[in-house]
Amino acid sequence: MPTYLPRFAILAALIAAAGCGPTPPPAGAGPEALYRHHCARCHARAGEPGGPGLGGSKGPDLSRVGAAPGMTADWLADYIRDPKSRRPDARLMPAFGDEMSADEIRSLAEWLAAKK
Ligand code: HEC
Repeated sequence: MPTYLPRFAILAALIAAAGCGPTPPPAGAGPEALYRHHCARCHARAGEPGGPGLGGSKGPDLSRVGAAPGMTADWLADYIRDPKSRRPDARLMPAFGDEMSADEIRSLAEWLAAKK
């Protein structure tokens, strides 16, 4: 009986658990997972989870975005759905109305609004 088979099975399970490659977050994922998946590549600093490995971030730092005047969960939810609906001059930030459900956008907006 070869002994490498069970070891291989454990290894394969570990690789699967580590989640290789860009896969969509599981349905019902929390706001932090949504942020890491959809937003961090532009809004996290180098070295932060999901952020770029090198260089600066393309979007503004959101770590205290809820402290800015007017940045309520409602405003943020509209902005995430379609940035131009709140700021006609937004240019680089993509609209996420097609990528996330209304519930996901809402939970993300509330999570961000609580960052003070
Ligand atoms: C492709 C890069 C990119 C991605 C991805 C991205 N953003 Fe942005 N975001 C920007 C840029 C750039 C701006 C500045 C306005 C502009 O030029 O569009 C911005 C602006 C913002 C602002 C306004 C902040 C302020 O202080 O004015 C919020 C809030 C925001 N983004 C939230 C998010 C959230 C939440 C996500 C994920 C769902 C996200 N962004 C994904 C690039 C991005």
